Amino acid sequence: MRTPRVIPEHLAIIMDGNGRWAQARGRPRVAGHRRGVEVVRRVVGLCGKHEIPFLTLFAFSSENWNRPVEEVGLLTRLLVTSLDNEVQRLHDNGVRLKVIGDLAPFGPKVEQMVARAEEATQVNTALNLTIALNYGGRWDVLQAVQRIGIATASGELDCADVDEELFSSYLSTANQPDPDLFIRTGGELRISNFLLWQLAYTELFFTDALWPDFDEKIFLAALEAYRVRQRRFGQTREQVLLSS
Ligand code: IPE
Ligand code: IPE
Ligand code: MG
Repeated sequence: MRTPRVIPEHLAIIMDGNGRWAQARGRPRVAGHRRGVEVVRRVVGLCGKHEIPFLTLFAFSSENWNRPVEEVGLLTRLLVTSLDNEVQRLHDNGVRLKVIGDLAPFGPKVEQMVARAEEATQVNTALNLTIALNYGGRWDVLQAVQRIGIATASGELDCADVDEELFSSYLSTANQPDPDLFIRTGGELRISNFLLWQLAYTELFFTDALWPDFDEKIFLAALEAYRVRQRRFGQTREQVLLSS
């Protein structure tokens, strides 16, 4: 068990509420998504400022394909273009980029762009930024099970050796600590198929603020809520107090 830090080592965010933000202003939903991308820049800066080394953002879920075709097209294009445009800036700021999710539907050009961006930034250490794109927690667990199945069938892996640590190493978040703090904006109280396995012991923070309105004040409120929580990992209150 890791000793909990006062500042989370890994922050995971469901950036929700873009559509409602735009609709409240009589604007098309995509205007909210555009504003949302600007807020991502702000949050990356905040993580640098507050020394949070891992940030994972849910940008597009496996279920978001169920939206109207027009929104899906605009949103996926916006996300891919923004990613491409931001790589140099991220690199200049010492950010190591990783994209998790099934990129196959975006085609080989996008897959290559992402692979190049990940490779170009892999030496960076200021912030590990993970973007979940066409990501689903169930998808992640299933792709891990499938790859473990292949490894056991070929004799490379013994089924009896599959423990939590090994299983985690087959998830798309391999080599990352599990999130310490989860934030969801937009007022919904659910996980929406985000990091299902990885969130097992994460502290959850929900805010009604819509993602385009997310700012340092809300960010600090979440950090403060985290700071005063007692993470017990199954132990009693007294045990935790004694060991701290
Ligand atoms: C979050 O905002 C962005 C994505 C899900 C891609 P929404 O588009 O879900 O905004 P609301 O929840 O409809 O307001
Ligand atoms: C979750 O938001 C997914 C992302 C933020 C990418 P949704 O708006 O899609 O979630 P639901 O459908 O309301 O649960
Ligand atoms: Mg939503």
